Order: sequence, then structure tokens, then C-alpha cells
Amino acid sequence: MESLAMQLAELIQNSIEARASEIEIFFNVNDYSNTITMKVSDNGLGMNDDFIKEVYNPFKTSRKSRNIGLGLAFLKQEVDQCDGKLIIDSKVNKGCSIEAIFKKDHLDLPQIGDLDTTIMCFMTEADRINFSFIYQVNDKIFIFDTREIKKILGSEININSNQVIVWIKDYLKHNMEGIEK
Ligand SMILES: Nc1ncnc2c1ncn2[C@@H]1O[C@H](COP(=O)(O)OP(=O)(O)OP(=O)(O)O)[C@@H](O)[C@H]1O
Ligand SMILES: [Mg+2]
Repeated sequence: MESLAMQLAELIQNSIEARASEIEIFFNVNDYSNTITMKVSDNGLGMNDDFIKEVYNPFKTSRKSRNIGLGLAFLKQEVDQCDGKLIIDSKVNKGCSIEAIFKKDHLDLPQIGDLDTTIMCFMTEADRINFSFIYQVNDKIFIFDTREIKKILGSEININSNQVIVWIKDYLKHNMEGIEK
């Protein structure tokens, strides 16, 4: 079973493939509603309604390298197994938002996994794509925005340089642990 962090990575990868320049990632753990929610919204190519209806079919893909797309088919299966919900909202040339809601105490729920590493991996794209990551645990919230980081770094230092990416990983880990307490 793939961790939720790996499935989040699949959603972010889809947004990049849809040529988004803005990607918002939301991850919420809520004990009161007994849910874990992850949502990725982008301003990429989007999908029309007919495409959305069929998107869980593995043969529905815009991939050129192979004519099978497994990401959403697999996510849908996971969500269904955990009595969850998958909500897709998209408009052609406007963007796409995909939200997966899981029941937190469900026995089949995969591990959350390594969210900070997942976000860190996408920082190699952060020079051309703006990412925001909103991590919420009950009533505590941590917001990370690559636009803010870029502002601090100025024009001299690249956000996707190795040192900065290592720093971002620590920064995410530290702040995420801070609100998990
Ligand atoms: N954020 C998005 N914006 C626009 N289209 C999307 C988005 N996410 C998915 N799609 C469309 O849905 C199709 C199916 O996505 P899915 O993740 O299931 O497979 P894939 O990305 O094509 O292949 P794989 O995930 O196996 O690499 C994509 O090929 C793409 O056309
Ligand atoms: Mg995919």
C-alpha cells in the first residue's frame, strides 16, 4: 500500500504535467471530524466534464510515453477502500483541484508517510512553479509558500539550489513537528 505522502506526490506530479505555474497543496489531519484530507489545486490545463467522468479508467490518460495512467485510478481505489471521498473540480484552461478525504481511524488507511520529503522533492521545480503547502493538524496550521522563500533569498540565490532545498526540508520538518504536538 502506498503512503498518503506518495499519493500526494502523484497529484502534484499530475499538476506539473498539466503545466501549472501555481500549485496549492493542502493536508489536514482532524481528530474532531475523524478525517485526513489532502487537496491539490492548480492553474494548469484542466479537464472537461466528459474527461473527468472517465478519469478513473486507467486507459484515460494524456500521457504520450505509454497509454495507461494509473495515478487517479489507484487513488480512487484507496479512497473507496477507506470509506472516503474523492472530489474533482476542474475547468479546461482554468485549472484543476482534486481532494481526497479519508476516514482517519479506518483500518485500511495507509500510513501518512514522509510529507516533508515529498514536498522537498518538488522544490527542484520551484524556480518556475509557485508552491504553497498548508499543513493543518486540528486547530494548528503551518503555511509554507515558495514565493515567501524566494523573496527572502533575493535574486542572488536560487530556490532550487542544493543548500536551499536541504534547508527547506529541515524547515518543513521542524514546523510540521511543531504543530503535531
Ligand atoms: N491536475 C490535473 N490537471 C489536468 N489534467 C489532469 C490532472 N490530473 C490528472 N489529469 C488528467 O487525467 C489523466 C489521468 O491521470 P492519472 O494520474 O490517473 O494518470 P497519468 O498521470 O496519465 O499516468 P500516471 O499517473 O500513471 O503517471 C492524466 O493523463 C491527465 O490527462
Ligand atoms: Mg498521474
